[in-house]
Amino acid sequence: MKVKIFGAGSIGNHLANASRRLDWQVDVVDIDPAALKRMREEIYPARYGAWDEAIGQHVAGDAPVGGYDLIMIGTPPDHHVGLAREAIAENPAALLIEKPLSTPDLEGLAELHAEAEAAGVVAFTGYDHVVGEASSLMTDALAAGAFGTLETLDVEFREHWGGIFAAHPWLDGPTDTYLGFWKRGGGASGEHSHAANLWQHFAHAAGHGGVVEVQARLDYVTDGGADYDRLCLLNLTTQTGFCGRVVQDVVTKPPRKWARAQGSDSGGEWRCGFEPGKDAYAPDGGEATVVTKTRPDDFIRELRHIEDALASKTGSASPISLERGLDTMLVVAAAHRSQAQGRTVRIDRSAGYSMAALD
Ligand SMILES: NC(=O)c1ccc[n+]([C@@H]2O[C@H](COP(=O)([O-])OP(=O)(O)OC[C@H]3O[C@@H](n4cnc5c(N)ncnc54)[C@H](O)[C@@H]3O)[C@@H](O)[C@H]2O)c1
Repeated sequence: MKVKIFGAGSIGNHLANASRRLDWQVDVVDIDPAALKRMREEIYPARYGAWDEAIGQHVAGDAPVGGYDLIMIGTPPDHHVGLAREAIAENPAALLIEKPLSTPDLEGLAELHAEAEAAGVVAFTGYDHVVGEASSLMTDALAAGAFGTLETLDVEFREHWGGIFAAHPWLDGPTDTYLGFWKRGGGASGEHSHAANLWQHFAHAAGHGGVVEVQARLDYVTDGGADYDRLCLLNLTTQTGFCGRVVQDVVTKPPRKWARAQGSDSGGEWRCGFEPGKDAYAPDGGEATVVTKTRPDDFIRELRHIEDALASKTGSASPISLERGLDTMLVVAAAHRSQAQGRTVRIDRSAGYSMAALD
């Protein structure tokens, strides 16, 4: 595979490393020459042992165009849609757009979806937790009805900013980047949208379909020029009437990334990073399966999933398909509207991937 990655920051390094571990040919593009230098001299050697001279680096505007199997967009969220639409015009076989897919105004998503379909580009989103090994065990249990009738589902991604900024030592704090601005895709609602996405994925696995109602409580911080939600609490209902809860925050320490499915007969829990490098899936009363892995392993597994989905032509059915990421953006947008208007917001997917889908 020949791949191009936009963004030489934290995720750009992970995706470049994972691609090289799969022996893929890699070009990385950034608008900032200092970011490319930092990747080469600091982030990549510190994380993976040594810089890899086989990785091509290009300042935006001077990068090769065309001839890629996969283009990955790893820039801040407010650049995702524009870059993704330009990437589709290059006609790669596939596209991976990082989470959250866009800003909560959903600008350009309907066009992005239509253009990917028209060009036959198989598009994915970077919600890598849904294809993790431990979460796949919980997915299988839900799909098999292992807990009896599913009564409810909880997913929490609670992690203080500190953990995120430890991975970005070149940033001083939330206002240094999109993270401090919910309208740019930051805050708990955007940064930890892994939780809403995982909830949607588990609900699908259990046969409950997509989310049609969002009742949210967000707590915004506007100090020092910032404007982000530090807490994002969501009550979600799907098309079958099934309901459950999602908690995303940037205040909890130590972090807790956890899911529980409660059925009529029993339940099961997923935990991510409950100890450094360890995820687990545990059915009630059964033995826990502990998965030992590194963060780089997560991205190797994600890219293998994409490679397999392309080879078997099953990309549109993937749990990290573009459509799943678009569904999560509808929930994020509905959450902000629910908080602003103090009411439950309905989602009508048939109105397309835009604000018109929210009522
Ligand atoms: N899937 C995951 O678990 C995961 C993990 C980390 C980050 N992310 C996501 O990846 C995205 C980037 O996050 P990050 O932490 O790597 O950010 P970052 O700030 O570390 O890096 C972003 C890089 O993109 C560059 N950039 C900005 N606009 C660009 C453009 N138009 N063309 C090329 N490069 C451009 C910036 O110069 C910067 O170097 C976010 O959406 C984030 O949520 C996902």
